[in-house]
Amino acid sequence: MTETNPTVLVVDFGAQYAQLIARRVREANVFSEIVSHDLTAEEVASLRPAGVILSGGPKSVRIEGAPTIDPDIYELDIPILGICYGAQLIARQLGGTVSQFEAGEYGRTSLQVTGGNLFDGQPAEQDVWMSHFDCITEAPEGFTVTAATKNAPAAAFENDRIFAVQYHPEVSHTPYGQQTIERWLDLAGIDRAWTMTNVIEEQVAAIRSQVGKGRAICGLSGGVDSAVAAALVHKAIGHQLTCVFVDTGLMRKNEGEQVVETFQKTQGIELIHVKAAEEFFTTLEGVTEPEAKRKAIGELFIRIFERTSGGIEDARFLVQGTLYPDVIESGDKHAATIKSHHNVGGLPEDMDFELVEPLRTLFKDEVRSVGTELGLPEEIVWRQPFPGPGLGVRIIGEVTPEKVLILQEADFIVRDELQKAGLEREIWQAFAVLPDIRSVGVMGDERTYGYPCIIRAVTSEDAMTADWARIPFDVLEAMSSRIINEVNGINRVAYDITSKPPGTIEWE
Ligand code: XMP
Repeated sequence: MTETNPTVLVVDFGAQYAQLIARRVREANVFSEIVSHDLTAEEVASLRPAGVILSGGPKSVRIEGAPTIDPDIYELDIPILGICYGAQLIARQLGGTVSQFEAGEYGRTSLQVTGGNLFDGQPAEQDVWMSHFDCITEAPEGFTVTAATKNAPAAAFENDRIFAVQYHPEVSHTPYGQQTIERWLDLAGIDRAWTMTNVIEEQVAAIRSQVGKGRAICGLSGGVDSAVAAALVHKAIGHQLTCVFVDTGLMRKNEGEQVVETFQKTQGIELIHVKAAEEFFTTLEGVTEPEAKRKAIGELFIRIFERTSGGIEDARFLVQGTLYPDVIESGDKHAATIKSHHNVGGLPEDMDFELVEPLRTLFKDEVRSVGTELGLPEEIVWRQPFPGPGLGVRIIGEVTPEKVLILQEADFIVRDELQKAGLEREIWQAFAVLPDIRSVGVMGDERTYGYPCIIRAVTSEDAMTADWARIPFDVLEAMSSRIINEVNGINRVAYDITSKPPGTIEWE
């Protein structure tokens, strides 16, 4: 909840619609947060929301144990929008009828608009995206039915303050969906003025009041989240912030130098650059088992971070780039638990610091906008996700400095060719993997015996599932021939065509 911006609460009923709805509301320049359906009316009132959206959820409100909300919420004089399950819930709790009709509706469906404030300015016939088994056959008393489809006689209904739609306005397959959400915000009288500039100003003030004259430290990983968090905190407290960059030697080509260049030289941030590659290579000698490798890298990282931050006098605050999806996923505060959390391998919880988390309310794309507005370079703002243990989990078997050099070169070519083809923002991650085998080849008249390299490129929304990217053959060909010609030690290139599941994105 922010102090100065009106907030729309999106009530989550345990499906994954709430996040998308919250993002659409934010796209309409209104701050929004996800809350659990078990908040009481009193708790909702104390959050002083400008509006409440009841999101989609399980298939039917009629099944036993289906989640509901405290009916007193309807009495709070707060504008409400019900979507899909939320619409059915409003109908049922306020005295309408939800029942089984001839058939459910799934996917693109034609909607006939018969009136209503919500649809002002929209065509009388339009496509919407449906996903329901039961339907609302009768709106509650005092409501007007404003739209219907073949199998949903009350596909939308409204009174002065409460609006409901059976379809999903938040998905891109509903062409007038965003317009509908924006119209509801306007009907609710909500000021649409939330921007990234607001976020920066507000967070700068919050950081100053939290940290006061204290000293904060921030671990930089080279990734976008810690980079934006650091830049934001630096804007707020300047030299009271010290960043620690543990250079493991397992980053991609030139990435270590780029972190130093960006933060120390361009942003003027106080940076301790710990060149720890040798220490990591020594620790990794002879370690081949994937979990042992991850553990060894993680533990050494923490030891070095603790050693370094311990030397920063009076540091009481630790800056972390926690994002909103992490907050929702870990079921913090009122946010519901949506899915199990991928272990990002961060710092231990028992470190004796007070946390500063200026990105806690933001989605990834919003963090990127903040980063751009703070003047961070595109290469950092648009960086693909990168695992904490770095190239260590992309070198199968023992990690050695020689193998890291080979992989850095091959990986650079993969990303360079992808960028030249203009595909890098469509691809979730693209990288090279170096397996622990060698094969025979021929170059010129010479027999070669070198490593193969595997190109891995996936499309994904959230890394929980992924598909192998259908990269055009000529782009793959350019990658392959450049890798073999330019990278000493590689004589063969393969493309990984495994989706997740059953594969994972990383190889270890
Ligand atoms: P997998 O390989 O499990 O990876 O499909 C899913 C996503 O998580 C990234 N990943 C990590 N990120 N620390 C991180 O911060 C880690 O230890 C780690 N391991 C995997 C991976 O790159 C992909 O985006």
